[in-house]
Amino acid sequence: MTLIDEARKVRELAYAPYSRFKVGAAVRGRNGVVYVGCNVENVAYPEGTCAEAGAIAAMVAGGETELVEVCVIAESGKPIPPCGGCRQKLAEFGDANVPVLLATTGGQTLATTIGDLLPGRFDATHMADVAPQ
Ligand code: THU
Repeated sequence: MTLIDEARKVRELAYAPYSRFKVGAAVRGRNGVVYVGCNVENVAYPEGTCAEAGAIAAMVAGGETELVEVCVIAESGKPIPPCGGCRQKLAEFGDANVPVLLATTGGQTLATTIGDLLPGRFDATHMADVAPQ
């Protein structure tokens, strides 16, 4: 199955009774394995989690910490951009040049990269000058 097919399939499992907006995400690890996630909402709204966060958590729990490809899909008039928090989460595990395919269930796609989604990202180099304890 292609990455987009994996994302499309897991999207169906999303738990989104509050927004009714189901999202699916699939990431391919450096090891070649595809990890999937869907959004999981909560009646205490801020406790909900995004599809991307679920896929990343599955990847890390599967023993992989580097992603090389990302796909996010939703039922929307145009491909949805990952939220700000998810951009930072993706950047934690993928290089700036990692391709990100944003898709709609209707067949539209928008190809971008982690770097384009989060220019000027905060990374470990910004903490390099902390004095030792
Ligand atoms: N959502 C995602 O899962 N990923 C995104 O990139 C954007 C938004 C979810 C969060 C919430 O459950 C619903 O979509 C509406 O914001």
